[in-house]
Amino acid sequence: MFWLRKFWIIILVLVVDVFRAKVYAVPAKPCRILLDTDVDTDDFFALLYLLKLNRSEFELEVKLFSCIFYDILYMMGRDDIAVGVGGEGGILEDGTILPNVGGYLPIIEQGMTTAGGCRYRQAIPVGLRGRLDFDTNYGIRKSFLPQGSRKYSPLKQPTAQQVMIEKTSAGPITVFVTGAHTNFAVFLRKNPHLKRNIEHIYVMGGGVRSNNPTGCCPKHGTPHCHPRQCGDPGNLFTDYNTNPYAEFNIFGDPFAAYQVFHSGIPVTLVSLDATNTIPITEEFFKAFEQSQWTYEAQYCFKSLKMARDTWFDDRFYTSYFMWDSFTSGVAVSIMRNYGKNNGENEFAEMEYMNISVVTSNEPYGICDGSNPLFDGLHFPKFKLNKSGLHSGHVQMGLRDPFCFVENGKGKCKDGYTEEGTGPDSVRVLVATKAKPNHDLTSKLNREFFTNFLDVLNRPENTARFNLTTEFPHFRQAFYEPDFKNRTLGKPVVFDMDMSAGDFMALFYLLKVPVELLNLKAILVSPTGWPNAAAIDIVYDLLHMMGRDDIPVGLGDVFAMSQSDQIFHLVGDCKYAKAIPHGSGGFLDSDTIYGLARDLPRSPRRMCIL
Ligand SMILES: *[C@@H]1O[C@H](CO)[C@@H](O)[C@H](O)[C@H]1NC(C)=O
Ligand SMILES: *[C@@H]1O[C@H](CO)[C@@H](O)[C@H](O)[C@H]1NC(C)=O
Ligand SMILES: *[C@@H]1O[C@H](CO)[C@@H](O)[C@H](O)[C@H]1NC(C)=O
Ligand SMILES: *[C@@H]1O[C@H](CO)[C@@H](O)[C@H](O)[C@H]1NC(C)=O
Ligand SMILES: *[C@@H]1O[C@H](CO)[C@@H](O)[C@H](O)[C@H]1NC(C)=O
Repeated sequence: MFWLRKFWIIILVLVVDVFRAKVYAVPAKPCRILLDTDVDTDDFFALLYLLKLNRSEFELEVKLFSCIFYDILYMMGRDDIAVGVGGEGGILEDGTILPNVGGYLPIIEQGMTTAGGCRYRQAIPVGLRGRLDFDTNYGIRKSFLPQGSRKYSPLKQPTAQQVMIEKTSAGPITVFVTGAHTNFAVFLRKNPHLKRNIEHIYVMGGGVRSNNPTGCCPKHGTPHCHPRQCGDPGNLFTDYNTNPYAEFNIFGDPFAAYQVFHSGIPVTLVSLDATNTIPITEEFFKAFEQSQWTYEAQYCFKSLKMARDTWFDDRFYTSYFMWDSFTSGVAVSIMRNYGKNNGENEFAEMEYMNISVVTSNEPYGICDGSNPLFDGLHFPKFKLNKSGLHSGHVQMGLRDPFCFVENGKGKCKDGYTEEGTGPDSVRVLVATKAKPNHDLTSKLNREFFTNFLDVLNRPENTARFNLTTEFPHFRQAFYEPDFKNRTLGKPVVFDMDMSAGDFMALFYLLKVPVELLNLKAILVSPTGWPNAAAIDIVYDLLHMMGRDDIPVGLGDVFAMSQSDQIFHLVGDCKYAKAIPHGSGGFLDSDTIYGLARDLPRSPRRMCIL
């Protein structure tokens, strides 16, 4: 999916054994898959799709970090799957990569800590319709997913790099990358000897010959309509004024994507070229609504419906595409055909193209303060060529004056998977188009739509859980104390973030007799130590204390004047960049050191409708 994560580092390793015994009457040769993804709605679709595949053919192992994924794996009865989180290591000035690099920051900005800026990430909305929604899965997670016993615990959590090393060392493996490429690229640079175990890389991301079909004016529209990202190769709907070329996953870390594409390992790319041809149609949405025979199908449908119901305009059906789920389908289908016949598969048309990932803009060899790989360094990092293609201007953020073109499309190409003929490009198999449904009588116009619904609704590998039957005594209670006969003390509003001191203070305030202090409301400030989704934890704390009556308000997600002038949902992280993403920072505050999982769950939740 095209969202990349702010700080949850998700590496999903699916080890899939595809028994090929049917064709060759020889013992089956296992085919293992490592999935490196992020956590948007479509990522869940991809994960569940892969988890649903025949388990006697596919043996799965997953590595990732996100409480949501823990819950999904628990629901699917897969607590055996390993989970890795970003470590605390860094990259030295000379380019030496220390073990256990966190992967919280793009490679070019990775220093010795997990704190840092947001030059690429700031294209992603932080609040509503952005990370807030994805981190809570629109609030659906709390009501629908059962909660397993696994949680993030500092010191015990294996790092993403450790898990990747372990899984790749074990034997041949295929990698799916459906988020930003940071972790995988760091792994490849750090462990070149393990490259030989990687058979193939499937990537969701980039746009090569794509024309964005969204942000266009209706054919017979009003004369006042200004086309937006319409026709762009990329999909940065928040940032096409500077960069109409990039797609979100690659834009998350262009330098990392370059490393992956140029690693020498064969790459198949499912780019916007193909995903633009498989929008979620109204017919598909209706068909999905009517075929929810498993718990996981219900969960996916609920998420999709929430995405639709909260869409910012009335063009959901032409703006929301199958990204990661489609990629999983295409990749699995190619693998079933043993990767032969130039990627022939059931769901997409394929074509070889020579492409490269743009990491900096021409002219090269300038030192204008935008490029941490060269600026101020006696020797460029990673021994890079001082006048090579990594040495130009690197996009600094939204409305970077270098890239910004007044009243026009921007000129920066950072993250563009550009077609080229020179020695800098690599031959990549690219999905160009989703195949139409071979059943012409079906209302579903894409072959993959039918397969997706079919797989999700299979009775095999289904969720073990049904909250109604498994927990017959479970009921959701809303606790509201009765203060009728008591004289209430001073009314107080508490404005907090989520460092340890804050929630201890909250408990303290709740313990003070109401005759003395009457806590009227809590405000959560996501400009400081928590992420906006931490509001869910505050709800749970209050629930535990029997105070579901106290309203909780979500503060502004941007510090003053950090929100973008043109597109208010995105903005800079000038102050927040001082807060580390890893241990001692967001990772701990957003999970209260993993303890948040032990809280009872409040029926209240982040709910945006
Ligand atoms: C799963 O695959 C195995 C081995 O190919 C096969 O015997 C079995 O019937 C399959 N199960 C289902 C439910 O299709
Ligand atoms: C859970 O079980 C109840 C009772 O058998 C049933 O009505 C309900 O549809 C089931 N829910 C799901 C999600 O399968
Ligand atoms: C890609 O490059 C190879 C040689 O590097 C060349 O033979 C081939 O024709 C090129 N393909 C395209 C589509 O440009
Ligand atoms: C560095 O890059 C320039 C420009 O692309 C090229 O002409 C030169 O040969 C490269 N030098 C090395 C040592 O690769
Ligand atoms: C409040 O006071 C009234 C009258 O003294 C009494 O009947 C009632 O039970 C009290 N309510 C509570 C919740 O204590």
